[in-house]
Amino acid sequence: MATLQAIKYSPGQLLVLDQLRLPHEHHYDPVSTAEEAFDSIRTMRVRGAPAIAIVAALGLAVELSNGACTASTADDAVAYIESRLDYLKESRPTAVDLSNAVAKLKQAVRDAKVDGLAPAEAKQAVLDAYLAAAEQLLAKDLDNNTAIGTHGAAWLQQQYGATPDRPLSILTHCNTGSLATSGHGTALGIVRSLHAQGLLRHAYCTETRPYNQGSRLTAFELVFEGIPSTLITDSMAAALMRLRRGDMALGAVIVGADRVVRNGDTANKIGTYALAVLARHHGVKFVVAAPTTSIDLETETGDGIVIEERKREELTQISGAVVNPDGSVDPSRTARVATADQRINVWNPGFDVTPHDLIDAIVTERGTVVKGADGRFDFSKVLPERW
Ligand code: MRU
Repeated sequence: MATLQAIKYSPGQLLVLDQLRLPHEHHYDPVSTAEEAFDSIRTMRVRGAPAIAIVAALGLAVELSNGACTASTADDAVAYIESRLDYLKESRPTAVDLSNAVAKLKQAVRDAKVDGLAPAEAKQAVLDAYLAAAEQLLAKDLDNNTAIGTHGAAWLQQQYGATPDRPLSILTHCNTGSLATSGHGTALGIVRSLHAQGLLRHAYCTETRPYNQGSRLTAFELVFEGIPSTLITDSMAAALMRLRRGDMALGAVIVGADRVVRNGDTANKIGTYALAVLARHHGVKFVVAAPTTSIDLETETGDGIVIEERKREELTQISGAVVNPDGSVDPSRTARVATADQRINVWNPGFDVTPHDLIDAIVTERGTVVKGADGRFDFSKVLPERW
């Protein structure tokens, strides 16, 4: 079956699917410099915590493959790469995958084996070390997501005794699928895995205002894969959770993460916290799917997370393809329309923090972490103290 790919990479070439044009148009932008990668991320043509990190890493990889680094020694090449990574790290602040990737890539170039090499060879060894580490991020992310899908589906199956005769319905928020990662997805990866095992009854996805990652991207992915699914507005979640009939009897809310800190507090797309409060009230399990690249052990609690504030137009305007009088969509004609008085004050935080006490499980590629008797998450089984 065809799969959606946000990122297409081969050595020396990076193509990034422009997610602003989805679901109506599939257009890949070539990204060949750190500046182009930065711009893709900042303007959200690529988004989603893992995908952002991968595009930053590979954008610089292509720049280096094209001979942009004119350093003549290994030390200068390391300095060049580090300054480019520092620049890329500033593109979006909340998702920790990017800063974790930057730390790993810096370590990889510092660890390059250069002893006894002539300056030109030593420089090349640094560049090769960078390319290998960046390419590994891409490959590892796909493996991580498949493993998250397996662990998450197993945990939910065990919690509910789900079988193909008694499948589960779930609600998800934002987009955590192939488009937010190198493939398969995190929270949506669990949905995919449940579906593949015949354990999914129905998937609900929120619209995810104001940027509509749910209606533009997740709905598109669910339809693309033929997963039984329904779109709701964010404000319908409480009503859905209250209904306990048929497809609408929700088993779990499954969301992704942009940053999980040491105590388990989780930053994710704005609206996640509201869903967690609702889930607790209605006795629905609340599950976070997060690769270990989204875990930040340096930050103790959610209070330490920087929340990105986004531009006012995301609330006061909307764009989309034009709908013809017969109901068909014309992808070649797009329009931007005002949805509010343009003078109104706007508050537009991109993310919120869900306190750990509202989270039942955090599914990583190395297993599912639940709270201990002390009510705290302990990540030591899935993550060494320093990595
Ligand atoms: O602002 P975005 O679209 O980058 O936000 C994305 C999310 O919040 C996702 O849910 C999160 O990054 C997890 S992606 C696997």
